[in-house]
Amino acid sequence: MGVEVVVDGLTKSFGRQVIWEDVSLTLPAGEISVLLGPSGAGKSVFLRTLMGLLRPDRGHIWIDGHDLADCDENTFHELRGLFGVLFQDGGLFGSLNLYDNIAFPLRQQATAAEARIRQIVMAKMELLGLLGAERKLPGQLSGGMRKRAGLARALVLDPEIVLFDEPGSGLDPVRTAYLNQLIVNLNAETGATFVVVTHDVDTARTVPDSIGLLFRRELVMFGPREMLLSSDEPVVRQFLNAGMPGSDPDPGGPPPIPPRLMPSGNRIRHTRQAPGDLVRGQRRDPAAGIVRGRAGT
Ligand SMILES: Nc1ncnc2c1ncn2[C@@H]1O[C@H](COP(=O)(O)OP(=O)(O)OP(=O)(O)O)[C@@H](O)[C@H]1O
Ligand SMILES: [Mg+2]
Repeated sequence: MGVEVVVDGLTKSFGRQVIWEDVSLTLPAGEISVLLGPSGAGKSVFLRTLMGLLRPDRGHIWIDGHDLADCDENTFHELRGLFGVLFQDGGLFGSLNLYDNIAFPLRQQATAAEARIRQIVMAKMELLGLLGAERKLPGQLSGGMRKRAGLARALVLDPEIVLFDEPGSGLDPVRTAYLNQLIVNLNAETGATFVVVTHDVDTARTVPDSIGLLFRRELVMFGPREMLLSSDEPVVRQFLNAGMPGSDPDPGGPPPIPPRLMPSGNRIRHTRQAPGDLVRGQRRDPAAGIVRGRAGT
């Protein structure tokens, strides 16, 4: 389970506003990648582009040998089916109860009988600690429950790639920590490729296998967590350690790398690939050629 996604030279603008340019990175199959960036850096736009909801101006999104940014309609539809997404606001339909919200993607597919749908929905609700709340409307739930319900819906079709847009937003630190542990557990359980975008530095430091920093219209860096957390690139240090680019970087060198959150209940992670390369945003050597050959190999 889980597929590799290779993003190559991706650029997105709205009119004359360039959101980010020439973003290239490889999201390892079955692992958790976090893209960190300040508010307005274009994180949500990145996720929407990655799953084909927005069209990039340039660049490629290679999945299993196909380019999501440039393929025929059938392939596009199939590739889109690989994704599940937890939207920033949960993305639940306000007029549908939790059960119907979570059942929605299954009913849209119109392939499963209602009895089977019930089995699947109840299993996902149990997985996310939502049993008993089936008949509640989204407006009657706490923020944390809404997030988990959005996540149950994102997982209901057993996606190969799961996107999380700011999973901790609107939650207190205790619930954010709980959700982070849940993300790590779900990754171990499903083996799907997880991509989390957030401005929360604690999440970025403890949850992912790989981290990237999206800042001032470019992907400053992307690579294994340990490499990025010990980087002496000033902009990375400023963002990770002080939270605010522009403030003084820590004078004593980077703080120690915190332990990575491990799955609870002795679950074993499906994958831990050998650490990949560190990708530096605009500093990629154009002579190195594009990474397209790595998709689907
Ligand atoms: N559909 C759109 N049309 C025009 N501009 C857009 C559209 N969607 C996003 N933008 C602009 O793109 C920029 C990046 O927005 P985005 O929502 O991706 O930021 P973000 O990093 O997710 O921020 P936050 O952390 O606050 O969620 C913003 O300036 C926003 O106004
Ligand atoms: Mg956003």
